[in-house]
Amino acid sequence: RGVGVVVVAAGSGSRLGAAVPKAFVPLAGRPLLAWALDTVAGVPGVVSVVVVAPAALADPSGPQWSGVTLPVGARVVAGGSERTDSVAAGLAALDPACHVVLVHDAARCLTPVGVFERVVAGVRAGYAGVVPGVPVVDTVKAVDERGVVTGTPQRSALRAVQTPQGFRRDVLEAAHAGGSGATDDAALVEALGHEVLVVDGDARAFKVTTVDDLAHAERLLAADPG
Ligand code: C5P
Repeated sequence: RGVGVVVVAAGSGSRLGAAVPKAFVPLAGRPLLAWALDTVAGVPGVVSVVVVAPAALADPSGPQWSGVTLPVGARVVAGGSERTDSVAAGLAALDPACHVVLVHDAARCLTPVGVFERVVAGVRAGYAGVVPGVPVVDTVKAVDERGVVTGTPQRSALRAVQTPQGFRRDVLEAAHAGGSGATDDAALVEALGHEVLVVDGDARAFKVTTVDDLAHAERLLAADPG
């Protein structure tokens, strides 16, 4: 019942406007990826880690990797053009002994260990998929192609979801075998008819997307260097 973690770090991060792919952008002097991996290394029960990097940066001895400590035994593989392709590449490289798989965005680099633990506990309790989520502060509208509202879901029933997302390995592999894409892995698992549980996420698991997000992450680290 070992846990494997796929850390996806192969995105370009064009919204950040940096010269290097997002996972390699410095945060308090070290790549975003380094902060994410420090946390993964401290998650109980993890037996295998695969980092999915941009093809041009898939050699961990390269200069962009300076400041990154790979967890013991971690593998690095090249990602694909869509996030789903990168997850599939990571999954294929994971130790066969892992029956629980977590998929984590490197861009959610300050996600606390407790979130990982809640997700693993949910999978161990029998859920095929478990995702961390937080209440939604804005009212959310569904719209048609003209921008006209087609519905207003009750806000109290909505959650904004984060990573790591955890799955039974066989279920995640079946979900990816379908070959369709999605912005999160849970959606593929839901489409197969499995129950996906939402556990408490954490504000610190926000995704670094913009320059403001990077500044926010810098402030959090300055306030609580760990
Ligand atoms: O682009 P976005 O921020 O939504 O990406 C979420 C995560 O997925 C990031 O950690 C990014 O590196 C990863 N990703 C990937 N391969 C892609 C696109 C995104 O590994 N082709």
